[in-house]
Amino acid sequence: MSANQSVKFTGLDFENPFLLSSAPPTESESNILRAFEAGWAGVVTKTIGLHPVVNVVGAKAKFMRTSPEDAYVSMKKRPGAALHSSWNWELISDKTLDWWLPRIRRIKQAFPDRVLIASIMAGSGNDKELQNWQRLARDCQDAGADGLELNFSCPHMDRRDMGSNIGKDQGLCSVVTEAVKGVATVPVWCKLTPATAEIEVEAAACFRGGADAIVSSNTFPSIPLIDPDTLEFEINVDGLVSSGGLGGPAILPLSLAKMAQMTQAFPDKSFSGIGGISDFPQALSYILLGCGTVQVCTAAMLDQAVGPNVIKRLLAGLDAFLERHAADGWTGVESFRGLRRDRIVAQSEIRRPDAAGYHSGYEAAEGYAGAEM
Ligand SMILES: Cc1cc2nc3c(=O)[nH]c(=O)nc-3n(C[C@H](O)[C@H](O)[C@H](O)COP(=O)(O)O)c2cc1C
Repeated sequence: MSANQSVKFTGLDFENPFLLSSAPPTESESNILRAFEAGWAGVVTKTIGLHPVVNVVGAKAKFMRTSPEDAYVSMKKRPGAALHSSWNWELISDKTLDWWLPRIRRIKQAFPDRVLIASIMAGSGNDKELQNWQRLARDCQDAGADGLELNFSCPHMDRRDMGSNIGKDQGLCSVVTEAVKGVATVPVWCKLTPATAEIEVEAAACFRGGADAIVSSNTFPSIPLIDPDTLEFEINVDGLVSSGGLGGPAILPLSLAKMAQMTQAFPDKSFSGIGGISDFPQALSYILLGCGTVQVCTAAMLDQAVGPNVIKRLLAGLDAFLERHAADGWTGVESFRGLRRDRIVAQSEIRRPDAAGYHSGYEAAEGYAGAEM
């Protein structure tokens, strides 16, 4: 592996900028060990909590595919269809904190040079829940976690004080981050929901609380399609469905837009990009917008559960890219990080054939006022 693939992110040294995100690929010790063997520089564990977790009956995640001839999007497997997205309604890890701690310890002993971030989640709005966040943070860092990712983003929590419900409330974002920072000795990342109008508002709140980085996107709120023959949702339990999360290629442009809002608002802060990455070109878009690391879920789930071929492609892609730009003096990720961040501008700043006739959508002022403009 080339030395110039390495990055420093929130004070942590990564062999390369590619991580597995918090999800099934990182739900067990064996998966995480296999991921490190495959070459991932870091993993974010499946989210660990203290409250009871009971998943729905049947499938917790499925993949949607689209057929080129009619753009039909469906979970039905059929020849020639391409991946469109993942859809899931899986809750956080159903394993306890006590189950996780010895495993975090063993993983770090086996791979001291790889980065293990513990994703954690508790409630909010009262001291007891803030203490739960602090207990999770303390225990995970004591077990050897190199950093903490606060889950403010799970889109299918019933509890109003958890997951994306925190990420939709800037007050809670700030208070919870501050509580964790109060006990943390390792970097604290906040993973925000993309399901808000102006994500830079919640990002600002996390930074006010002391966050070292913002991570985005978690999955986007969504429901499965209805089968035209059976008139049933393609995934359902007893005919019922609830809102779940969309990931994979379908969310890439949406997630990039969210990320751009934040990196433009906070060009000097640290960001980790997620959403629709399966190969280097998608990772490159996030880095050119200012991300220092990127994370992968759906593509890894479809590639032997931990993405050995995905990481191979990402590393080869980064190597080839740096080689192509060696003449530009680019020596690593920092050479091109953020290079296209400022290319996103207001409509009015985009060139048009009749620039004189366009007044940002307003009527042209007339007469003397017009001359003044
Ligand atoms: C089945 C499944 C389970 C997930 N569980 C978690 C979780 O426990 N914590 C979390 O922060 N994100 C979770 N995610 C979200 C992913 O980490 C990631 O943010 C999202 O899938 C977008 O990335 P992708 O397009 O590469 O899939 C989960 C995603 C899937 C598909």
